[in-house]
Amino acid sequence: PFQCHLSGLWRNELGSLMEIREVNDAGEFSGEYLTAVTATSNCIRRSPLKGAQHEMKHRGQPTFGFTVNWAKFSNSTTVFVGQCFVDDKRKETLKTMWLLRQEVGSPEDGWSATWWVGLALSGFTRSIGPWI
Ligand code: BTN
Repeated sequence: PFQCHLSGLWRNELGSLMEIREVNDAGEFSGEYLTAVTATSNCIRRSPLKGAQHEMKHRGQPTFGFTVNWAKFSNSTTVFVGQCFVDDKRKETLKTMWLLRQEVGSPEDGWSATWWVGLALSGFTRSIGPWI
């Protein structure tokens, strides 16, 4: 039973890149996310992420969650939740789902207009870059 480690460079099926720094003893981590796509017409910038991961004690495939703050180019926020899996060849994958919240003027703005919610499966595999 191998252990799955979150830290490192990852790429998802959209071509987005993320770098997760060392996970501390409390399971907290931070990193950077470079999305390949945007719902805005702005120039994409690297964005900070912060998250928490379960301790690994016996099981080596921890669940985790993190928030990406896109403030450098967008008023939205995305949260990801997922699990780190490792197979018998030591290949690691992150299986995640995410929700994106876009800023609107008031709660009355209506569901379809006010909630720009994406709900989708997203898988990350280890990447060696390039990291811009
Ligand atoms: C925005 O467009 O307001 C900010 C960027 C959002 C990118 C989303 S987050 C979920 C999905 N997975 C990605 O790698 N990028 C998109």
